[in-house]
Amino acid sequence: METPDWNSNSVGDDVYEPSEDTFLLLDALENDLNNLKKIIDKGGCLVLELGSGSGVITAALKKTLGSTVQCIAVDINLQACHTTLETCSLNNVNVDVINANLLDWIFQSKSIDIIIFNPPYVRSFVNEGDVDGKISDIKHAWCGGPVDGADVIRRVLPQINRVLADNGVFYLLMINYNNPEKIAHFMAQEFSMAHNIIITRKVPGESLVVYKFYRT
Ligand SMILES: C[S@@+](CC[C@H](N)C(=O)[O-])C[C@H]1O[C@@H](n2cnc3c(N)ncnc32)[C@H](O)[C@@H]1O
Repeated sequence: METPDWNSNSVGDDVYEPSEDTFLLLDALENDLNNLKKIIDKGGCLVLELGSGSGVITAALKKTLGSTVQCIAVDINLQACHTTLETCSLNNVNVDVINANLLDWIFQSKSIDIIIFNPPYVRSFVNEGDVDGKISDIKHAWCGGPVDGADVIRRVLPQINRVLADNGVFYLLMINYNNPEKIAHFMAQEFSMAHNIIITRKVPGESLVVYKFYRT
């Protein structure tokens, strides 16, 4: 999968700049591309990236998967939504961008075929990074909450179960202290979802992994 172009100037201070985790997720999708194409061959056509940030992952997917898929990018940060649109336009691809909180806005169950999420996963204290008592846009990009940094991840899991199509797949990036195996155990127990580990990478101070979840 080709790494798309993006405009560093337009990413700015309020939007997550593509980083090691972004590129790891791109590599994971590339490693699993044949399986993604099989889902599309079977009629799957809705691809959704949660927390699109700069939009490079959504742009790469749309560029690679082509016109048979509709790509939707979601971000809680309005500036990230604008940047995603700009990145997609820079790469000549059309996607739909929605400024929303996780998957709250989807009413149709089992409707999305492929979901990708590089979540805010960093362990952080409640007020760390807040501006004037309000959570800042850039804090949304990394703050995963105290203890294990997995607060946002835990919030999205029941939503994934609700919206993921029967033959769908969910790619989730995590860091070692998010306790990925505990998350996987929860998905299996609560929602009968199995997982594969698609890729792992150690970078200074971080050990990152991408899991793929699917219904059994
Ligand atoms: C780690 S960044 C990843 C950005 C981009 N996907 C990448 O890989 O470079 C996490 C993104 O999730 C977004 N985000 C955080 N909480 C969210 C929520 N509740 N709903 C939607 N997006 C959220 C942030 O604004 C941020 O853009």
